[in-house]
Amino acid sequence: MRLKRQARFRLSYPRQVCPQMTDEAGFLVVGGDSLVGGGVTAALRRRGHSFFTTTRRHSNLTVGRTFLDFESTEPFKAPDGVGYAFVIAAATNYDRCETDPMARVINVELIPRTVASLLEQGLFVTFISTNSVFGGERPWPGEDDAHAPQIAYAQQKSDGELAVRAAAERLGATDRLNIVRLTKIMNGAVSPLPAWFDAWRRGEPVQPFSDLIFAPISVRFVGEALVTIGERRVSGNLHLSGAENVDYVTFAHALARRAGVDAALISPSSAAEKGIHIAFKPRYSGLGMTRTTQLTGIEPQKLDDLIADLGD
Ligand SMILES: NC(=O)c1ccc[n+]([C@@H]2O[C@H](COP(=O)([O-])OP(=O)(O)OC[C@H]3O[C@@H](n4cnc5c(N)ncnc54)[C@H](OP(=O)(O)O)[C@@H]3O)[C@@H](O)[C@H]2O)c1
Repeated sequence: MRLKRQARFRLSYPRQVCPQMTDEAGFLVVGGDSLVGGGVTAALRRRGHSFFTTTRRHSNLTVGRTFLDFESTEPFKAPDGVGYAFVIAAATNYDRCETDPMARVINVELIPRTVASLLEQGLFVTFISTNSVFGGERPWPGEDDAHAPQIAYAQQKSDGELAVRAAAERLGATDRLNIVRLTKIMNGAVSPLPAWFDAWRRGEPVQPFSDLIFAPISVRFVGEALVTIGERRVSGNLHLSGAENVDYVTFAHALARRAGVDAALISPSSAAEKGIHIAFKPRYSGLGMTRTTQLTGIEPQKLDDLIADLGD
């Protein structure tokens, strides 16, 4: 079976960076090699902004790519000319957050320490957080709603938010800080999509889970939206979310329709049926975006728009 042309998704995302020279204060992307960081650097490049990224890997250092390891005792100085930092890097692996005490130290102490240092250096800072801080039992939590984290990763991100907000208050810099929570980020390389595309190319069915809910947004959407927030320097709590809570069966059907794949190649299953333990299994995943839309004009991403972006 051949997929229609638009179904031949590219399975990698461009990651290389090149600082571009303009007159404005530049941006710093802390964690340029992350999934979200790749979306932000691509959007910055598309809009002609000057930017630097950071990496903790000495072998990856190049012009425009500067060293930052949260675990290093060396103080980090933002490159000259930078006025805005996106702090994206984090200890993101759920299992590691459950089992490795260092993950909590990184997320709750070392990242907030870096945020405080960037604020002290006069930068405007975006700290990236997650929908999981709300626990997933309430639909469409608002930007200033109370947290109810259920897993270690979510608890650490929630505590990290508290720590960065406390640092901003101590420094009198709350007008130079925003906390942006994201729902699940997708591109064509994010699991389970590569396996689904491979199966469909072989004419074999995929088995999406009906009991796994998410409100996905694309790497492109999150990159463009974060750069809009950075350009407008909006402070406070903000959300970036898909417009719908969907299960993976619904998602697979929407994807198959777009790719011209026969719906018979979708064989619904469930994590419960397969006996698979999933650490974070929210009833609701989407985030309320009322404040964000009012202040930035950014709307929740529709499912069809996310799917159209997966080829990027
Ligand atoms: N992906 C999602 O669906 C999603 C959803 C909601 C929120 N978020 C949030 O979005 C942010 C980015 O997530 P992501 O999925 O894009 O991340 P990711 O692809 O897992 O990448 C994490 C990045 O953090 C870096 N990092 C880890 N420990 C570090 C340390 N000690 N010092 C410096 N850098 C370190 C890693 O560096 P190496 O490359 O060197 O390993 C990597 O580049 C996180 O704050 C996450 O909580 C993500």
